[in-house]
Amino acid sequence: MDRIAYVLILLVSFGLKVHSLNKRGMVYGFDKIEPSANLTWSSCFDAFNCSRLEVPLDYSNRSLGMTSVAFIKLAGKNATVESPSIVVIPGGPGGSGVDLLLSYQNIIGQMFGEQYNFVSFDPRGVNNSGLHLDCFSGDANARSAFYQLHRTGITSISSTSLEEQYYSSSIYGDWCNHAVEKNSPHSYYVTTPAVAHDLLAFTEAEAEIAGKSPSTAKLWCYGISYGTVIGSTFASMFPTRIERMILDGVLNADQYYNNYWTDNVDQMDEAMETFSTFCHYAGPQNCSFWGPTPENITAKLDGITRQFRNRPVPLSGVVGSNLPTMVTYSDLKTLFLNALYTPLAKFPDMADVLHQVERGNVSGLTGLFEQSNSITDARLTITCTDTYRTNRLTTIEEFKTWVDYTVNKSKYIGDIYPMLLEGILCRSFRPQLPDSMGFKGKIGGLNKPTSFPILFASNTIDPITPLISARNMSSRFAGSVILMQEAVGTYSRDDPFGFSIR
Ligand SMILES: *[C@@H]1O[C@H](CO)[C@@H](O)[C@H](O)[C@H]1NC(C)=O
Ligand SMILES: *[C@@H]1O[C@H](CO)[C@@H](O)[C@H](O)[C@H]1NC(C)=O
Ligand SMILES: *[C@@H]1O[C@H](CO)[C@@H](O)[C@H](O)[C@H]1NC(C)=O
Ligand SMILES: *[C@@H]1O[C@H](CO)[C@@H](O)[C@H](O)[C@H]1NC(C)=O
Ligand SMILES: *[C@@H]1O[C@H](CO)[C@@H](O)[C@H](O)[C@H]1NC(C)=O
Ligand SMILES: *[C@@H]1O[C@H](CO)[C@@H](O)[C@H](O)[C@H]1NC(C)=O
Ligand SMILES: *[C@@H]1O[C@H](CO)[C@@H](O)[C@H](O)[C@H]1NC(C)=O
Ligand SMILES: *[C@@H]1O[C@H](CO)[C@@H](O)[C@H](O)[C@H]1NC(C)=O
Ligand SMILES: *[C@@H]1O[C@H](CO)[C@@H](O)[C@H](O)[C@H]1NC(C)=O
Ligand SMILES: *[C@@H]1O[C@H](CO)[C@@H](O)[C@H](O)[C@H]1NC(C)=O
Repeated sequence: MDRIAYVLILLVSFGLKVHSLNKRGMVYGFDKIEPSANLTWSSCFDAFNCSRLEVPLDYSNRSLGMTSVAFIKLAGKNATVESPSIVVIPGGPGGSGVDLLLSYQNIIGQMFGEQYNFVSFDPRGVNNSGLHLDCFSGDANARSAFYQLHRTGITSISSTSLEEQYYSSSIYGDWCNHAVEKNSPHSYYVTTPAVAHDLLAFTEAEAEIAGKSPSTAKLWCYGISYGTVIGSTFASMFPTRIERMILDGVLNADQYYNNYWTDNVDQMDEAMETFSTFCHYAGPQNCSFWGPTPENITAKLDGITRQFRNRPVPLSGVVGSNLPTMVTYSDLKTLFLNALYTPLAKFPDMADVLHQVERGNVSGLTGLFEQSNSITDARLTITCTDTYRTNRLTTIEEFKTWVDYTVNKSKYIGDIYPMLLEGILCRSFRPQLPDSMGFKGKIGGLNKPTSFPILFASNTIDPITPLISARNMSSRFAGSVILMQEAVGTYSRDDPFGFSIR
């Protein structure tokens, strides 16, 4: 089912329940729950249990104080309290696992089997958990002024855009640093190694309430996209504490910790080329952008791309009462990027828009780039604190080399991808965290296998979290294997960058 439709149905049903049948003791938000160190569950959202687990800011220095992590749990139809809990680790950084489990409610049992319990959580810094940071401290004008300076379009669109984006990027970190100093001194304690430790704390707390030994308790989990970085970090820190681990839609964790993502552009064009084959195969009735051969469709697509590169289309707005606007190359590239996340769902819509564009009607592209703003404070706070000491994207030369690389590697997506990732915004973050908050050593640099082998999963053509990353990560964990699905697309219900969460 369409994700948006799901969310709408959820919102509607929340509304009704809150107003009509508010059951005794049933809560519909985490603000009604007291944090506890021992995983006290409260009935919530009708079918779920919720808890706020109290955890130390820094596990190696408990005198710094505590924060809380929001957990949510759903019993499988055939599960008992004794059944294992599979922890679904959300994507992002910045994705909410609480939202994810609420929206998976009706399919999660089919995914894993009804004999399990299902758990998810908001990592530190995200939504219902502690350590929120609002970098602009509620100043919406300052935030939008920054976006206007920084998000000028595709990085290679003009002879000055790369420099504009590079130099303006320092503003963002400055505001975040300032907000931390003024309002929320511990908001940078959200690193992935700390989140991995929170998962261990959860596993131990669950064992404790079941009357089992916490020190030998093991984690069952399923991580997606950025959640695979949490998973591989956990596996590297606590290799003996894995009962089962599935990592699906895999990110190269080294590249994540270096803030230098290159694997990710590996299959973008390959995925785009399947648009032409699928469209041709579907036939003129079922693909509006159809052409007599796949090559003809690709040629038409490339023609439109060239046309927009040199000539944006002004829409004066005099017909109807719309505002004046301009449809640009950046809008077209955003169409491609959006479609690639979920090709099976979005390729037909992309065909319709392109077909209209062919006929001179560009309205399907209006505003796409502006609406695609992926900058969220949660995502960047986590990314930028994780990469603080290892950031390989700090100088303008490094930025140029990286943009060159993505542009060279993918003619369709390479020039918009840097604007989606926004890793360059990390360069002026100054988290000043103790060493204990970072990851020490090497992801997968273990001298013996994990307590149970990791299962990596990947589509054969994945435009965002490509197969080579799964191969790379699997090569580092002895005994792990890769499950491949012959398909095009990225893990379809997740959204590594928080796009559809907005
Ligand atoms: C859990 O902690 C709370 C206070 O934080 C306490 O009231 C409760 O009794 C504890 N429950 C158990 C089972 O230890
Ligand atoms: C979860 O909540 C339900 C009611 O909403 C309750 O019957 C059940 O015992 C709870 N399970 C746990 C593990 O707390
Ligand atoms: C622990 O944190 C406290 C409070 O910030 C600090 O004074 C102390 O030096 C820290 N201890 C260690 C071992 O880092
Ligand atoms: C629950 O378990 C029973 C007995 O093992 C089985 O027959 C039934 O199909 C299961 N139901 C679901 C929904 O998995
Ligand atoms: C945050 O949590 C609330 C309540 O659980 C939910 O309604 C909302 O959609 C969540 N927001 C995000 C951005 O995840
Ligand atoms: C279009 O798709 C429908 C259903 O997906 C299929 O039944 C139909 O045969 C297709 N039309 C053509 C001309 O292939
Ligand atoms: C694609 O095929 C159509 C129909 O044969 C033809 O009119 C058009 O010129 C072709 N376009 C390109 C770019 O090759
Ligand atoms: C123009 O394109 C849009 C979206 O692609 C479509 O909804 C609209 O109906 C088209 N307008 C005309 C006049 O065909
Ligand atoms: C990108 O391609 C250009 C032209 O082919 C080449 O000169 C340059 O070295 C490439 N850059 C990178 C980073 O691969
Ligand atoms: C995995 O990726 C890292 C980071 O890009 C690279 O240094 C390493 O050589 C790769 N390993 C393999 C086996 O491909």
